[in-house]
Amino acid sequence: MGGVSPRLDDLPLRDDLRGKTPYGAPQESVPVALNVNENTHPVPQEVADDILDSVAVALREVNRYPDREFVELREAFADYLGHGLVRDQLWAANGSNEVLQHVMQAFGGPGRTVFGFAPTYSMYPLLASATGATWVAGERAHDFTLTPQSAAEQVAEADPDIVLLCSPNNPTGTPLPIDVIDAVYEASRGVVIVDEAYWEFAPRDQRSALTLLHERPRLAVSRTMSKAFAFAGARVGYLAADPVFIDALRLVRLPYHLSSLTQAAALGALRHADTMLAMVDDIVAQRDRIGATLSALGYEPYESWSNFVLFGGVADPQATWRALLERGVLIRDVGLPGTLRVSAGTEEETTSFLDSLASLGSQS
Ligand SMILES: Cc1ncc(COP(=O)(O)O)c(C=O)c1O
Repeated sequence: MGGVSPRLDDLPLRDDLRGKTPYGAPQESVPVALNVNENTHPVPQEVADDILDSVAVALREVNRYPDREFVELREAFADYLGHGLVRDQLWAANGSNEVLQHVMQAFGGPGRTVFGFAPTYSMYPLLASATGATWVAGERAHDFTLTPQSAAEQVAEADPDIVLLCSPNNPTGTPLPIDVIDAVYEASRGVVIVDEAYWEFAPRDQRSALTLLHERPRLAVSRTMSKAFAFAGARVGYLAADPVFIDALRLVRLPYHLSSLTQAAALGALRHADTMLAMVDDIVAQRDRIGATLSALGYEPYESWSNFVLFGGVADPQATWRALLERGVLIRDVGLPGTLRVSAGTEEETTSFLDSLASLGSQS
């Protein structure tokens, strides 16, 4: 073809997308990758075999469009979540990112505002602005916690169309008390989404926002199979809400957005929920070990209910990040001064991270 390839600026791109950068956590090939909060445990062989059988059956009918309403899968998610939820209260998509995109498309858009308490999941502002909505960031206390009063006041003041509450919060791991969610719901006019992507790693005796769904038609709770189910590559996220809320999401989804292969794989994994979730205890143990060891090394780990730990007391985060990478360990600089974030890996991966960090000497 020849000629000069055009630059992005030369294309008739939407004005509001000019100058933006895409989501881009590094995908480097390193021995120990603990940077994107994946579940680093592989799917157990017997589960993988059963999923493969389900996918093989689905393949025989892949000439046909999939069940547009993914009825069986919604039923399976309702069973998995419990709390008396039924199929009509469930939704699913290709990762909870797409679930959240559906929410933005249905309730956001030009002239509307999306509110969250910063620092929080870096995709929220991108998802909001991709629909033309404006992102408004609220504030947290110095330790990243929120009180019902402060949260409700900020939401009442901003009066957003969508509130995104991350429970527990990424990238800080901070728990979100249930009374904060309740107070935010009462203070808001728009929809309130509780993103429980990491909920399975929280203490078992804690109340999920699912327990608040009854008689709160503007509330929705999103989850993902990417973390606890070790299913990030399959791209399956889901959401529970009032059936009318689910009807709103139907207005914006692409027809047949969940492939029959995805549906079959997710159903296969859900049949083995107990085996898949057995890894959670191990990950929680590694997370707590990271917290304790970091403290012993003189760092300041924040409380985490997720599968990762944010730690402060890092004199030069970029230098530490690079030194770990040179030792084959990839973690994340999320841009919060003096901190780094690490995902809990297998016992061996976690040991590699902790030993490599210890070998750097004291940073505090
Ligand atoms: C808080 C939070 N929500 C949602 C997601 C999206 O996950 P997925 O699209 O894989 O379901 C992530 C991924 O890291 C996350 O951290």
